[in-house]
Amino acid sequence: LGRNIVELGMVHDLQVQNGKVSFTLALTTMACPLRGRMQDDARKRLLALEGIREVDISARAMTDEEKAKVFGKSGQEQGSAAAHNHIKHVVAVMSGKGGVGKSSVSALLAVALRRKGYTVGLLDADITGPSIPKMLLSEPGRPMGSPLGILPVESPSGIKIISINLLLADPNQAVIWRGPLISGAIRQFWGDVLWGDLDYLIVDLPPGTSDASLTVMQVLPLNGIVMVTTPQSLAGMVVRKASSMAEQLASRLLG
Ligand SMILES: Nc1ncnc2c1ncn2[C@@H]1O[C@H](COP(=O)(O)OP(=O)(O)OP(=O)(O)O)[C@@H](O)[C@H]1O
Ligand SMILES: [Mg+2]
Repeated sequence: LGRNIVELGMVHDLQVQNGKVSFTLALTTMACPLRGRMQDDARKRLLALEGIREVDISARAMTDEEKAKVFGKSGQEQGSAAAHNHIKHVVAVMSGKGGVGKSSVSALLAVALRRKGYTVGLLDADITGPSIPKMLLSEPGRPMGSPLGILPVESPSGIKIISINLLLADPNQAVIWRGPLISGAIRQFWGDVLWGDLDYLIVDLPPGTSDASLTVMQVLPLNGIVMVTTPQSLAGMVVRKASSMAEQLASRLLG
């Protein structure tokens, strides 16, 4: 979100007594996948301060009023980094069908374009089953914050990558989110990440034609879609549904 937890109104019941700090962290949802990381980061920073010996952090969910304060207006605005991004082509890799090789095609497409000398970004829009960091990063780095936006992690060959798995404290942690949160994460990956100047941004979609695909097609200025399928007629049937969705939303099929 580009702001710290105090500015976001997430810190409550703060007490400091004899070197012991305690507070309650108000989260948008108790299932927040970043909960562990936020608590760990806060604890580390507090323990680094002189005179602090103990840190006790409890958590609760934000009230609707608190949520409205944090997200009320900013939810409608374009992301903080969007003004600094200049992306020439945005290409989504889709299928509708699961396990047919979308992520492999996304990663290979990014690598091939990079080898041709283009500047390339890869947005992992699969929030519940992210595959891109495992495919392209031998050591998963952490996206860093900056005043202008979230800095993506770069692969050894210079592909800029953002994925929910780079933000989780534990890559095995499940992200148990309903549609609106999934869409929110993808919007942030587009608008709050400082992609900078890119020739190509590749977007790896999850299977299906619901929230993530819809958000990518409606929010991102797509130049086209690469549709992945396998020869089986069962795959073909589902993939034709995805093609029909692309057609209905006026997204161009590149191949
Ligand atoms: N051309 C290919 N030939 C054989 N196996 C492949 C090929 N492409 C991908 N695979 C394998 O198929 C599996 C699924 O690939 P991948 O993760 O790219 O699919 P996906 O469509 O992104 O899956 P999901 O729907 O879970 O996101 C992987 O084990 C991958 O190594
Ligand atoms: Mg995939």
